[in-house]
Amino acid sequence: MLEVKDLCKTFRIGFFRKRVEAVRGVSFSVGKGEIFGLLGPNGAGKTTTIKTLMGLIAPTSGTFRIMGEDGANTAVRRHIGYLPENPYFHEYLTPRELLDFYGRLSGLSRAEIAERRDALIEQVGLADAAKRPLRKFSKGMLQRIGLAQALIARPKLLVLDEPMSGLDPIGRKLVADLIADLNKGGTTILFSSHILSDVERLCHRVVILNKGVVAAEGRIEDLMHGEAGTETLEALFMRKALESDGAAAS
Ligand SMILES: Nc1ncnc2c1ncn2[C@@H]1O[C@H](COP(=O)(O)OP(=O)(O)OP(=O)(O)O)[C@@H](O)[C@H]1O
Ligand SMILES: [Mg+2]
Repeated sequence: MLEVKDLCKTFRIGFFRKRVEAVRGVSFSVGKGEIFGLLGPNGAGKTTTIKTLMGLIAPTSGTFRIMGEDGANTAVRRHIGYLPENPYFHEYLTPRELLDFYGRLSGLSRAEIAERRDALIEQVGLADAAKRPLRKFSKGMLQRIGLAQALIARPKLLVLDEPMSGLDPIGRKLVADLIADLNKGGTTILFSSHILSDVERLCHRVVILNKGVVAAEGRIEDLMHGEAGTETLEALFMRKALESDGAAAS
């Protein structure tokens, strides 16, 4: 479904064009029907990786393929639903109008949109706010409508950047259940998080990113019970983060 090879992204910032190596040779692949987690602390390079895959920023080097097509091919993006890290929407639109808009952008017919729109609003728990403009929405409510937006065109691959952030416990469970349900229906899902429990519970496989490099990769069970026998993913996550801190310092 997705194959990423040696992806690098270096930003140049400020007057002196200082280099920030956000992603340094990241490789991983996501199989069809998987829930794949991109795990890592703040600044690890998760969003940069995702934005690159979505074609929003150009990689400095490296390649990726989506559904067998070269990543530069834009047509394949029709099959991808994407929830950005900080979604920003036209604030005078209501959820219905927003889904109409994104539905049309995705090439759906009015009939298809009409059939799907209200069910999605219901599914993300916004039925009571369906007629309210988005400027009156809370952060969690915006996150929910962002999720509905990502789902409008029934994507084959769903890419969610921190889908649980800003949500209350009910919202987190709603998103977790939604991810599990969609996956049962055949949707492949890639999502990023810095919260281990969400990833542990939902993902088949994960990549742990730290400072732009892959610190560990594999099936959750293997990572949990692999190297040290009973080491939890959390311990592994912390240890890998500390190890590469040490490596960076030396
Ligand atoms: N547009 C940019 N210009 C310069 N540096 C950037 C830019 N975007 C990201 N970075 C830097 O790249 C690194 C990785 O950032 P990124 O947003 O990918 O991390 P993240 O894993 O998504 O973190 P978080 O958990 O906080 O969302 C950080 O050091 C960040 O400062
Ligand atoms: Mg991020």
